Amino acid sequence: MTDTVAQTEKKPVIFSGMQPSGALTLGSYMGALQNWVNLSDAYDCYYCIVDLHAITSRQEPAELRRRCLDQIAQYIACGLDPAKSTLFIQSHVPAHAELSWILNCYTMFGELSRMTQFKDKSTRNTDNINAGLFTYPVLMTADILLYQAELVPVGDDQRQHVELARDVANRFNGIYGDVFTLPKSFIPEEGARIMSLADSTRKMSKSEPAGGCIYLMDKPEVILKSFKRAVTDSGGDVRYDQAEKPGVSNLMTIYSVATGKSYDAIEAEFSGLGYGAFKTAVGESVVELFRPIREKAEALLADKAYLVSVYTDAADHAARAANKTLRKVYKKIGFVAK
Ligand code: TYM
Repeated sequence: MTDTVAQTEKKPVIFSGMQPSGALTLGSYMGALQNWVNLSDAYDCYYCIVDLHAITSRQEPAELRRRCLDQIAQYIACGLDPAKSTLFIQSHVPAHAELSWILNCYTMFGELSRMTQFKDKSTRNTDNINAGLFTYPVLMTADILLYQAELVPVGDDQRQHVELARDVANRFNGIYGDVFTLPKSFIPEEGARIMSLADSTRKMSKSEPAGGCIYLMDKPEVILKSFKRAVTDSGGDVRYDQAEKPGVSNLMTIYSVATGKSYDAIEAEFSGLGYGAFKTAVGESVVELFRPIREKAEALLADKAYLVSVYTDAADHAARAANKTLRKVYKKIGFVAK
């Protein structure tokens, strides 16, 4: 992550982020975090804890603060190396908020009105449809464009936001010349949309009732219990068919991502064994996947000073890259230099 390394290697850049609005989930791990780790050697990676985004819904201040620290520990525990990837907290780099304002003036009301996440969230939280929720994708655009990111590893639900970032970059470049790199999303073939274990029509997310959502830091017994209760479908055979068997297909995806086994191999493994044995095996595979991560994260959390040093150094490094882009933008727009 040091400047010398970044300058001499000149790898293409990745940016991605996760909200500290709750603990990290199995969905966010399989949809994004796992790819963050896999891509981290080949790219110059900026992985962010997006606390500015999190306050579009109300957060309890002490909890928010604690979750940011937890999240840094979990990023590292999953295999991200702070010496190679820049692991930082969004609010530590003011350029995110600054560029966001500017890009608000280059993003259309109509574009933001079409964002499905805004439509979903404003329908579900009618008591707090704040302006930040509406302009949320502009802040995300600023996050990505500040670092000249080429690739944005995310789950399927963020695809539309990354497309917007690309459209805004294109529009800005069309007016001022080549200022921003055009970003592309990187969405895994499997695991891009992990569904709730309680209702396979809903995405697995922190807002799911207990049992529907699995968290990275869940204890083995909690994970096993949730999988044992997971919804399946009629018929007893373990077969991948998203339309007819959404519950079983979701479990097969989880098992496949956790173990690396193909759907054919999974079908053969559980042929004639029924759902009970299958659900236990999926639960156990997730327990084994998360066990070393949880143990490492717990150990890291015992060394707060180390975690603070990681995000402090990373913020300095990120700010240098971000300010370079911001200065260029200010100049292009016609702001007077200080
Ligand atoms: P967030 O915090 O909701 O989710 C973090 C990442 O996890 C993915 N994800 C899932 N993937 C598969 N199945 C699921 N059930 C599932 N749940 C979550 C998300 O797609 C995401 O990649 N707006 C973003 C955070 C953000 C960001 C950015 C991302 C802010 N700025 C810039 C990329 C680039 C969000 O709310 O993610």
